[in-house]
Amino acid sequence: DLPEAFRAALPVPTVLQPVRTDATADHYEITQQVARLEILPGVRTEAWTYGGGFPGPTVVTRSGRTAVVKHRNELPVPSVTHLHGGHTPADSDGYPVDLLLPVGSSPDAAQQAGGMAGMAGMAGMAGADHAAARTAVGERSYTYPGKQRAATLWYHDHRMGFTGPGVWRGLAGFHLVHDDEEDALPLPRGERDLPLMITDRSFAADGSFRYPAVDPQLAEPGVTDAYANGVLGDVILVNGAPWPRLDVDRVRYRLRLLNASNARLYRLELDPQPPGGDALVQIGSDGGLLAAPVRHDGIEIAPAERFDVVVDFSRYQPGTQVRLVNRFGSGRTAEVMRFDVTAKQPADDATVPDRLAAVEALDASAAVATRDFTFRRSRGDGWTINGRPYKPGESIATPALGAVELWRFSTDLHHPVHVHLDHFQVIGRNGADPGPYDAGWKDTVDLRPAEAVEVLVRFTDYAGAYMLHCHNLEHEDMAMMADFTVR
Ligand code: C2O
Ligand code: CU
Repeated sequence: DLPEAFRAALPVPTVLQPVRTDATADHYEITQQVARLEILPGVRTEAWTYGGGFPGPTVVTRSGRTAVVKHRNELPVPSVTHLHGGHTPADSDGYPVDLLLPVGSSPDAAQQAGGMAGMAGMAGMAGADHAAARTAVGERSYTYPGKQRAATLWYHDHRMGFTGPGVWRGLAGFHLVHDDEEDALPLPRGERDLPLMITDRSFAADGSFRYPAVDPQLAEPGVTDAYANGVLGDVILVNGAPWPRLDVDRVRYRLRLLNASNARLYRLELDPQPPGGDALVQIGSDGGLLAAPVRHDGIEIAPAERFDVVVDFSRYQPGTQVRLVNRFGSGRTAEVMRFDVTAKQPADDATVPDRLAAVEALDASAAVATRDFTFRRSRGDGWTINGRPYKPGESIATPALGAVELWRFSTDLHHPVHVHLDHFQVIGRNGADPGPYDAGWKDTVDLRPAEAVEVLVRFTDYAGAYMLHCHNLEHEDMAMMADFTVR
């Protein structure tokens, strides 16, 4: 039986404290470990976690300061950690075959992992030796130089072929970047600045996560045919709790909405709407603050997208139970969480200014190259980009550092398209203006069946191999990825 909604208190993930800090960098440590969590009341769920919880601890960093996160792998499987939305040097980006093998793996395991990656086709990257060199055993440090604006980022597993089951079992956490420009604004802060990680999951009767992998031992990637379009769950979790609730005072709150689901698209609305509508005032997107707020009655959020919104609960009478609902769901998946508005109305000096941040607009006429990327299911090859299933090391574009490029994404079915290394700006959708959810710097853009989107992108600071892919994690695991090499 599924638990009753709005019983669990909304958990807020703990903030990770640095183990050490020096003149230029803050050092963090995360142990990836199996944990038995009480997600559903009365049963334990065996999860793969960052630091023992799901979500993992929130990493909070400062723009301009380097963060070094050392991961230790005590899981039964290899891992790869990617900072989604991070402006990250290639060797710390979580390239899918840069494996971190479990603590205690045999010394030749790294060599074998290299050999496997070599067979998977590390052409042009010095093959197996290269892969072996980038395979670590036990511990690995990821370096994030922090040359990016304040934004809501997240980290998650990115292992070749197994990102879907890894994230499903719990390998996801927030990483927030702050900066002076954001600090100077009168936005809600402290307990009124809440990260909300929204996921859907399914559970077996004994509480274990139910994931339809073709091979339950996860030696082979992929899911059973019935789920080839992506795995959906029937329980909605927010910060790891089923349909939770939160008491809110009659003041403004900042909600950092993240859709960390494998494949589910949501349309989030508050129900009831406050008088006059426009309940969700969007102040930021994947890549940080917008130039000016955008008001919405509802927000359509695809896997991996983030929307920072401010909600003013003083627009509701005390005692109102405000549900966050999913208009794209049905039955239980139409509910997400509930805010219970208290009678308390403490002083609220938070506001949403009409001007939020300086946002450079990339100039289409400056684009030095135009590239097309077609996301399609192809007969025989499964999920492909430009007709090719993913092969590590096989680059399909070589953008130059610092150059503006026009990238065109087109699709057959529904695919949220994600680009590593730098954020982009959507300049057109289906031959018309960008859509209502395309504002600001994005790193993931949602494409509906048969849609086409044009974006401007410019890669800076770091050369090397990066990737673009569908962020439907089952599509990703079934090869809807491609490398591009920044030179
Ligand atoms: Cu959120 Cu390449 O991934
Ligand atoms: Cu897809």
